[in-house]
Amino acid sequence: MSTPVLSLRGIARTFEVPDSGPLHILTGVDLDVRAGEHVAIVGRSGTGKSTLLNILGLIDQPSAGSYSIDGRDTAGLGETRRALLRGQTFGFVFQSFNLIPGLTTTQNVAAPLLYDRGLAFWGREARAEELLDAVGLADKAGGRIDRLSGGEQQRVAIARALARRPRVILADEPTGALDVDTGTTVMRLLERQCHETGAALIIITHDLTVASRATSQYRLEHGVLTPIDIAHREPGSLESLEEVGA
Ligand SMILES: Nc1ncnc2c1ncn2[C@@H]1O[C@H](COP(=O)(O)OP(=O)(O)O)[C@@H](O)[C@H]1O
Ligand SMILES: [Mg+2]
Repeated sequence: MSTPVLSLRGIARTFEVPDSGPLHILTGVDLDVRAGEHVAIVGRSGTGKSTLLNILGLIDQPSAGSYSIDGRDTAGLGETRRALLRGQTFGFVFQSFNLIPGLTTTQNVAAPLLYDRGLAFWGREARAEELLDAVGLADKAGGRIDRLSGGEQQRVAIARALARRPRVILADEPTGALDVDTGTTVMRLLERQCHETGAALIIITHDLTVASRATSQYRLEHGVLTPIDIAHREPGSLESLEEVGA
């Protein structure tokens, strides 16, 4: 099989907390992610899902273990190289959208291209308009962010995440602030965009339906990832992860 895009072995993350003992949040995470794969990670609140996503996205560094991208160890990279690799590899989608309110939809989507040179830089607004079209928001190009609904804002955030043609999209509870129908629409869109561009999708979610659509599913508990198998669910399933043994 091909080399995984991302490979984690024995990843640990400990937080030192003043006036109390260290918090061992991740203790031994192993994970391989291949091109185009669709991964879901579920787990209770506070188990370290966002901590893991920050490590995956080169925002945070593990306390122990190894993390390779394209077979190359990321330990020992300086901050400049890490930032470069982060920008070339990942697109991020968050629960709270994290759009910049003073900018238009087009400027928000184009923002990641401001650090590029040449064509990517000069063509950034055209690229943003193409992406807004791809997420069904062509008519909102150039419009104000604060006039958009939650679902529309998340579609803008997805367009922004795709701007630099990432190889991996990291999504932290992307449907967490949306109602069931809007969440389903947004997820289908995210999946389709990843499928069309060949990007891998790693999604953290509380939503069984969202998790059930992934081809690889894991639960994060006690600092490690365990493979699980959530059968397909219709949107709006009211069962909890615990009820299905996840
Ligand atoms: N920088 C930090 N310093 C200390 N504790 C932290 C830090 N970041 C996260 N934590 C703690 O680690 C635990 C896991 O957090 P998080 O990864 O956000 O969980 P989840 O996303 O699964 O809800 C929580 O108890 C949180 O308070
Ligand atoms: Mg979290």
